[in-house]
Parts: sequence; structure tokens; C-alpha cells
Amino acid sequence: MGKNIVEEKNKMVEERVEELLSQMTLKEKIGQLHQAGTTMNCALPGFEADIDKWVSEMLQGKLAKEELDRRLSMCEEDLREKEVMAGEQGSFINLYEDEKLAKVLDNAKKSRLQIPLLIGVDVIRGYRTMFPTPLAMSCSWDMEVIRQMAHVAKREAWESGVNWTFGPMLDIARDARWGRIVESPGEDPYLASRIAETQVIEFQKEEADGCRLLATAKHFLAYGAVRGGQDYDTVDMSERQMFETYLPPFRAAVDAGVGSVMSAFHDLNGVPCTMDKWLLTDVLRDELEFDGFVVSDAEAVKQCVVHGAVEDEKEAAKRTILAGGDMDMASGDYSRHLEELVLEGELEEAVIDNAVRRILRKKLEFGMFERNYVYDPERLKQVILSPEHRKAALEAGKRSAVLLKNDGVLPIKSNIKRILVTGALADDKQELMGPWSFTGRTEAQVTILQGLQEYAADGVEVEYMRGCEVEEQGTEGWEACFAKAKKADIVIAVAGEKAFMSGEAASRADLQLAGRQEEFLLKLAELGTPLAVVLVNGRPLAIGKLKEHIGVRAILESWHLGTEFGHAVADILYGNYNPSGKLSVTFANEAGQEPMYYNHPNTGKPGSDFKFTSKYQDVSIEPLYPFGYGLSYTSFSYDELYIENLSLSMEDTLRCSVQVTNIGNMAGEEVIQLYIRDVTASCVRPVKELKRFRKVYFEPGETKKIKFEIPVAQMGFYNRNCEYIVEPGEFRLYAGPNSAEGLEEKYEVK
Ligand code: GLC
Repeated sequence: MGKNIVEEKNKMVEERVEELLSQMTLKEKIGQLHQAGTTMNCALPGFEADIDKWVSEMLQGKLAKEELDRRLSMCEEDLREKEVMAGEQGSFINLYEDEKLAKVLDNAKKSRLQIPLLIGVDVIRGYRTMFPTPLAMSCSWDMEVIRQMAHVAKREAWESGVNWTFGPMLDIARDARWGRIVESPGEDPYLASRIAETQVIEFQKEEADGCRLLATAKHFLAYGAVRGGQDYDTVDMSERQMFETYLPPFRAAVDAGVGSVMSAFHDLNGVPCTMDKWLLTDVLRDELEFDGFVVSDAEAVKQCVVHGAVEDEKEAAKRTILAGGDMDMASGDYSRHLEELVLEGELEEAVIDNAVRRILRKKLEFGMFERNYVYDPERLKQVILSPEHRKAALEAGKRSAVLLKNDGVLPIKSNIKRILVTGALADDKQELMGPWSFTGRTEAQVTILQGLQEYAADGVEVEYMRGCEVEEQGTEGWEACFAKAKKADIVIAVAGEKAFMSGEAASRADLQLAGRQEEFLLKLAELGTPLAVVLVNGRPLAIGKLKEHIGVRAILESWHLGTEFGHAVADILYGNYNPSGKLSVTFANEAGQEPMYYNHPNTGKPGSDFKFTSKYQDVSIEPLYPFGYGLSYTSFSYDELYIENLSLSMEDTLRCSVQVTNIGNMAGEEVIQLYIRDVTASCVRPVKELKRFRKVYFEPGETKKIKFEIPVAQMGFYNRNCEYIVEPGEFRLYAGPNSAEGLEEKYEVK
């Protein structure tokens, strides 16, 4: 769009904002800053529903999901009609039912100024059609997959009345004990930044019919560095580390025009992010030049009291809005205290005006005032879970799985006639959906068993024996399973985690497979029938024994691949698709090694066989699987890493090429990765830093020369004063299939 048209549009928005603001009462202004959920006024006779308690019990397996649903179905949700029509609530959170969504949007039209509602939902991996988890998709290294997810999710959510997604989640995650690693774009700032910009651009891009979502970069900042991987715990790190590792994906999201940012739950260097002026104003607005609005995380304003950062909730409300926190998610503190603070002279109304401006600006820019949403069930039937949406989810699923081990047993050969599938997860729709799938449709979920049965060639029999539970200790059914396995031509054993064993509030101190799964798999491995393990999990697991056991012929890391899960796994196992995923997170050998990541400094005594070096005595210094690792059914060779100019000035661009050949007899894709190392610098630099990557298709035997460019300006780092600098000196360049192997060349920056 031409520059002057943009300026004209901005001018119109500003005028409209000021016009609205001038008409708004203080209550209406504060209403725009107040986001609420639909409280549940339970209709069950005789007692107040404690929904949180019920949900927690369900997550702990103490309350059956069916019973929870029965109780909730009897609850009368409060759509807060009075508040909305009085203009005292500007946003809703997590409304999943279409009819209720349509109702609240309609209620807003009856308010005095008819300011539309922001309807925020966690659309981070699809809306009704579920895509792989964000961690899984980050392992595709495929920005078209990421874009497709955002494109399909935007369409389904927008048509349902949603106009704001609480995504992308951009927390760099280096510790597999943290359950939310499943929602993350992995451990690397460069890969995460590409994912950030791809999602923000696609979510927010307006389609011909106005379809678009306001996006949210979350959680600001460094939530993935919580102490010990324990969710919500404290984070303490140098600002330099923040700028170097955790800020880049947010910078990329802001540069891509993200309209909102969500502040994080935790305290960062002693101050809760929710009310941290240095973070939300000095860093986010001044340093990154963010011009959207900030929303707190759920009830985080209230939690500032619990943190011990403020005396009471009134002070929490004051400090948060003064810090630059514009909207209060679900704590109610803005709604309860801001008016009082203004009337008492404790808070300038101008501060509230600024927050309201930021929110109104986005509602205007995203066309929410013009949108006349009409609930159209027939239309939704065409859009939701459409064949093309499911196909996009299938593509994403195939490209997000990572082949960790394979002695050639995969793909399943044509002489295989009897397949035994085992494991409690293999045919469990609910568990296979994985975390953050509340908007999904369980009935649409394709299980791994289903996929293998549907895609089986004629004459191939696919049987199922449940075998091992995920967490429970029982072994009933094992013997029957082993007996069946002995008669099969191959066993596909599904193991890993239940849906809520990763995600929010799902930190784990131990990364071993839960329950007796490992014992079960190793017994299977002893039977002699070829065994392939399919992992369903939200975090790297300590699967060293499976890696080492010769009877475990293959391991496919399938994470949670979305609605088309079973079809994606079947396409890979049957060889219809050659797996191309690469790990975006390091697999440590043991939990005790976390946080473990590839881009670490060398230290003065890097780990080696020599005793007095940096290592644990009881585990390998090498990761179980390194960042960037993933096998294919074919093989690729790397030759001739060539750098055009070996001596570069600060203004130069490094131009290089690497020759890659598919030396196997199956077509496939390879993610060629390019890393640098700044050998000597005023702040020690990581032994490797990812700077470029490209996913390339190769026919069997095909050779391609892959070219990359890296401006010297992108080879810098943040010094002790958080100033970005590039220093002259010797650099190394690596090109390879992962962070642990490849070709190496030297060059210098003058
Ligand atoms: C949760 C999460 C956040 C989510 C929000 C709304 O607590 O921390 O990621 O967007 O609440 O569901």
C-alpha cells in the first residue's frame, strides 16, 4: 500500500480514536481495559460450582472428563450482558461456543458507543482443525507450514467470531522440564524469529473478505527461563542474556507489526513482568518501538500481591497501568480500582486515556467497528474442518515429525503383512490432541491406529493390543500383547505423555518415560519381532535406553501432530512421505543435565575425557540428540563449502555456497543449516549460532549448490551494556545437517 495511503489511514484512525475518547465516560474508558471470562454460575442445586477445582481434578485424573462435561453442561454461563451493554467490559477471553460468541458480540452493539469487543482465544496451533503443537511445527523448519497453520486458524477462528489470538508464543525454551516447551518455537533465537514473523504476518494479514486476527507476542519476557523449568517460578538473568537470547523473537514480531504483547506471569530480576516499567516501556516501547497494547496474563495483576511486589490489588492495578500494562486479563482489578485511583488523584486520567487509545487503535485498524458478525451455522459447516483445512494440517503433521533412529526397518516394507500396534495412546483421541487444543473437535481426531488401518495396503492386517498404560503401574495385558507381537511381522509401539503432561502447569522433574513404558518397550525389543517406537510427547524425553537397544529398530518423534495425526504417522511409516523434520530443541541424556542447548559458550575447560573439564561424571557430555538433528529415509552428503570473500569489512555480506547431494535412492528434503562462530570477542560467544537455514527437496542422486548470504552486520552480539556490536576477528562458518556435524571454513572480519 502506498506510503501516503498508509498515512491517510493512520490519520483517520487517530481522528476516530480521539473522537471516541472525547465521548467516553471514565467508566467506559476503564471498561476497555477490562477483559473478563465467562464466569460459571452453577445451576447445580445447592452448591456454588468450583470450576477451577473440577478442572484441576480432571487434569489430575481424579475426575472423569465426561463427569466434568456433565457438570459444566448444567452450568449456566454468565455472558455478562449488563457489563457489556453498559460499556464496562471491552473484551472476552476464551469463549469457545459459537452461539455464545455471537451473543456477546451482539450485546456490544447495544452499548452506548457500540465499541466492538475483543474476543481473545488461544489459537496457537489451529482453531477447530488442530495443527501440530508449536514445538512440533518448529521442527518442520518450514515457514510454509507455519504460514498455513496461521492461515487456516485465522479463517476458522474469524468465521466463528474470534478476532484476537493469544499467539504466537515466542518463549525460547532450553529446559525440557518446563511443560510449556511444547508451546515454544524451540531453543534457537534465529529459528524462533523466523517463526514469529511468519505467524504475525499471516495472522494479521487481511483477506479479501476482511478475515484477519489481531496477534499477540507472548509471554514477555524470558518465561522459558523459569528456575529449574518450574512453571511460574522466578527468572533471574543478565539483561545481556535477555537481549541476546529471549528478546529476538519479540523484536521480529514487533518488526512484523504485531498488534499486542502479553506480559508474563513471573518475576524477572525481582520485578513481576506484569508491572515492570523497565520491561514494558523502556524495553518494549522505547527499544523495540512497539506501538500496540499490552495485555497481562490471566489474573497476573492480582498476583503481584502474591509476588510480594505490592501491598494490595489497588496498588497492583496502579503500578501495572503505570508500567505500560494496558489491559487486565481476568483479575478484575482494573475494573475495581482504576476509577477510585483517578478520583482520589492517585492516577492521572491521561494514563488511562493512553491505554484506551492503544486498544481502540487496534480495534479500528483491524476493522472491528465495521464488522457485522452474523452467526451462520451453515457457513461454519463449510469452513470448519474442511477437507482443504485437514489437508493443510496433514501436510504440517508429516513435515513436523522427526525420525530419530532407523536401522532401515522403516519405511514398512511391502512384504510386511501383519502389523501389531500397541500402547494406550495409540487409539486415544483425547490424549492424541495434546495440550492447547481446547478449541479442537475431539471427534475429528484421527488416531495413530486409525491412520495405520486406513492407509494399510491391501492384504496388510493391522491389529491393536493396548499393552502398556502411560502412567499407571499395572501390567495386565502385557503377556497377551507379547504373544501377539511374536506372531507379527512388525510392532508399532506408541509411547510418551498424556495431553496434560505437557503445556501450562505441567513441569516435570524427571524426563524418563512415565509409568512402566520403558520396561514394556524393552521387553518388546527382546522378542525379536522388528519394533518401531512412535513417541507422543510435548517435551524432549530421556530415551537413552531406547536409542541404545538394538531391538528398538526405529524411533519416530511425532510430538502431537494435530487432527490428522494418524494419517501423518501412517504416511511416514508406510513411506508415502520421507520424514524431513529436525529437532528445534536439544535432547539431554538426563533431566539433571537441563537446561541443555547447543548455542552455549565454550568455557575455559570444555567437557572432554580429561577429568578437570566441564561435565557431569555420570552422563555423556554429548546430548542424546543435538539441536537440528533428524534422519531421513535417504542420505545426504555435504561437499565444497565455499566462501566468496574470506576477508570481510563491517559493511560486507558473506556469500557462501555448499554442495549437497541426495546419495540415497529415495527423494527427500534436507534442512541445510548454516552456523557461525565468533572465535574471540569481548563477550564470549557460543560455539555455534544458527544464522541461516533452508529446506530443499532432492530427487535421488540429485546434487544442488545451495547459496547463502549473511551481512556482517548480523554477526554481532550484545555487550555488557546491551549495545549491539560487531567485532573484527576470526570467525568460523559451518554448513551441515545439524548443529553437531558438517563442513567448516574460516573467514575474518576486518
Ligand atoms: C494462560 C496462559 C496464556 C494464555 C492465557 C489465556 O494462563 O499463560 O498463555 O494465553 O492464560 O488462556
